[in-house]
Amino acid sequence: TSATAETDVLIVGSGPAGGAAALSLSTLGVRNIMITKYRWTANTPRAHITNQRAMEIFRDLGIEDQVLADATPHPLVGDTVFCTSIAGEEIGRIRTWGTHPAREADYQLASPCLICDIPQTYLEPILVKNATARGTQSRFSTEYVSHTQDEGGVTTTVLDRLTGTSYQIRSKYLIGADGARSQVAEDIGLPYEGQMDIAGSMNITFKADISAHVAPRPSVLYWVIQPGSNVGGIGAGLVRMVRPWNEWLIVWGYDISQPAPVVDEEKATQIVRNLLGMPDLEVEITGTSLWGNNEMYATHLQKQRVFAAGDAVHRHPPSNGLGSNTSIQDSYNLGWKLAAVLKGQAGQELLETYSRERAPVAKQIVTRANKSSREFVQFFEVLGLMDAETEEEMRAQIEERKANTPRGKEKRHALVEAMELKDYEFNAHGVDLGQFYESTAIQNSDGATRPAPARDPELYYQASTVPGSHLPHAWVGDAIHKVSTLDLAPYDTFTLITGIAGEAWQAAAAKVGADLGVPLKTVIIGPGREVTDIYYDWARLREVDEDGVLLVRPDKFIGWRAMTLPADPEAALRSALENLLSRP
Ligand code: FDA
Repeated sequence: TSATAETDVLIVGSGPAGGAAALSLSTLGVRNIMITKYRWTANTPRAHITNQRAMEIFRDLGIEDQVLADATPHPLVGDTVFCTSIAGEEIGRIRTWGTHPAREADYQLASPCLICDIPQTYLEPILVKNATARGTQSRFSTEYVSHTQDEGGVTTTVLDRLTGTSYQIRSKYLIGADGARSQVAEDIGLPYEGQMDIAGSMNITFKADISAHVAPRPSVLYWVIQPGSNVGGIGAGLVRMVRPWNEWLIVWGYDISQPAPVVDEEKATQIVRNLLGMPDLEVEITGTSLWGNNEMYATHLQKQRVFAAGDAVHRHPPSNGLGSNTSIQDSYNLGWKLAAVLKGQAGQELLETYSRERAPVAKQIVTRANKSSREFVQFFEVLGLMDAETEEEMRAQIEERKANTPRGKEKRHALVEAMELKDYEFNAHGVDLGQFYESTAIQNSDGATRPAPARDPELYYQASTVPGSHLPHAWVGDAIHKVSTLDLAPYDTFTLITGIAGEAWQAAAAKVGADLGVPLKTVIIGPGREVTDIYYDWARLREVDEDGVLLVRPDKFIGWRAMTLPADPEAALRSALENLLSRP
């Protein structure tokens, strides 16, 4: 008889989505098995940009220090360069990822964490190591083959690729975190909008110390606009930092309607030397790979006991650096909900809110990333490259920006605007942080609406405590300790945040939490209490009165709020929490 393993949640994939799912579940003490097709985690650096929401999750799950130890720090990520080669002429720079002095404040005010840059080859082992140390059963070289589900659970057939033998895993739930070609998502027939493989890209990874040319303008991205390159359509290549300043990744587009280019070591070396503008440089080519650019998202993320997360449900180009970040947030959203249902704290219907909350995010980021990618055209147009037919013409067009002629003047003027448009790719703080949820796990009992955005909502994040918003960050504490309001509401509990005049919430929460068997703690912010509003920032951000309350979900989203202390706080809280958790 073939053996069957048994667990609560089976996760397929050990990428950012699968790794984060395993870590989230193990942190909450939920039994889980994570299988992954290959013998180890990602073998090429892909995602790097790690945004503030992802860093907040790592902080909450206790791995922020490990990520920072392996990451290129915030001050080195910012001077995105446009040039004709790394050693050649510079066309301009954009301060990116919140490093512009005028933008840095927005980022600092919004979160206890700043954007940093960690290659996927470094991040995944951190997720997998910590998940496994906390309880995840990790199975490498193990492939998902198929599954069936019934009333009580899911039976998945997996293949041990080392021995060629199949076995079954019985679980209560299954998460398909198996990437852009997700078999799990296909097997449950998720509905999709959009298209796969709209453009082709080639990655070349290499080692070469080019500090002299990049350290004075430290960045993670160097865009090379180079006529004369014999591979790729438009003649633009991306030189992407992997480790400062001696490991790099080149990304190059190719026409996907044509056969994929064959790039051997000699050709790869030539491409590297051309883009760097260093014809004699000693280069160690470490790998080449091809990948497709997609514009596709799922409009529903679940079928009964089976869920899909990450690139399985949102597929898009790397522009804006949203892929891995969003994948991690998907799993963080799903993790606490699965835990609450498995522990009998919530009804099954809570799980439907995963799709309600995350499918709109999938659509938003796929749209944004593709728009950013297309907006590069404006930059090429302004430089006059769209109509240039020969290398000579391209060169002359780029050169024209230096001329003391009416055309030269016009070109310089147009470049200012074209550069500014790229803020929607490189400084889209509102896209990174502004998710707002509407579902039954958000109880907006007084029907509050979100304040109208004061500034462009894609570029600027605006904090609010209207239910469905993310808990705003403020530094609170005492003379010795400084913590973020986000630190007050850890992943393993619901948290009520109130002021001294709202003290009565504490007894109400203790009673409701005990009656419902749901972890629920109360934090009173005020002088002489657990934490003090040291900068008086919290008073300005909370929107509710001092005796009002915010009910913060484990994932830091505000699930309910009361503007003031009602006559019967216990009844109000009980009803909100019962509804939020879909309790029968
Ligand atoms: P991912 O594809 O990473 O993982 C899928 C997992 O499933 C793998 O572990 C695989 O082995 C496993 N698997 C697949 N099929 C299986 C099967 N049948 N059985 C078992 N296991 C199976 N994002 C970002 O946030 N910031 C950035 O800067 C960038 N930059 C970037 C650059 C480049 C060049 C690329 C190509 C992509 C990016 N991204 C990015 C996107 C990012 O890489 C991507 O969004 C995430 O890897 C998605 O994570 P997932 O875990 O969903 O899938």
